[in-house]
Amino acid sequence: MQKVTSFSPNETENFARLLGEKLKGKEVVALFGELGMGKTTFVRGLARGLCIDVNEISSPTFSLVHEHSGKIPLYHFDMYRIETYYDLCSTGFFDFLELKGVLCTEWSENIENVLPKDTIRITIERGKSEHERILTIVGDEYYENSWS
Ligand SMILES: Nc1ncnc2c1ncn2[C@@H]1O[C@H](COP(=O)(O)OP(=O)(O)OP(=O)(O)O)[C@@H](O)[C@H]1O
Ligand SMILES: [Mg+2]
Repeated sequence: MQKVTSFSPNETENFARLLGEKLKGKEVVALFGELGMGKTTFVRGLARGLCIDVNEISSPTFSLVHEHSGKIPLYHFDMYRIETYYDLCSTGFFDFLELKGVLCTEWSENIENVLPKDTIRITIERGKSEHERILTIVGDEYYENSWS
């Protein structure tokens, strides 16, 4: 486990970029954290690390998944509305797991029981001041070291 403090959206993006640069494809990055904590901001940084155009990154709240092509593709899910196993299946989540890209999920709280064992878990919590966020990464040491 590694913990870092971010004091701005830019810093959050930057921590995410450092992780993104280490990804090779097939990883699952699961984001946990309340409304407006910076999950989509984090995905923007991940995309940057994967050399994907970050202007394309927005919350896939209604479409549930955004697919971004790149040398390593990024599949960006928003699980906010996922309540049942049937809902989850209909997003294509399990099909995307078989593909070569990086799969990233917002609102992972809603699908925690189906996350693969080697999932990289990122939790974003509020800090003391308005723009402060505590980012925690739990996963293989190789990924945790992105921030050390
Ligand atoms: N240190 C920080 N890191 C990330 N975002 C921050 C930080 N400080 C302030 N913010 C603000 O918090 C908001 C985060 O928005 P973002 O859409 O990334 O959150 P989210 O967790 O994806 O929200 P949602 O639950 O609606 O999907 C932005 O308005 C951003 O400017
Ligand atoms: Mg979001």
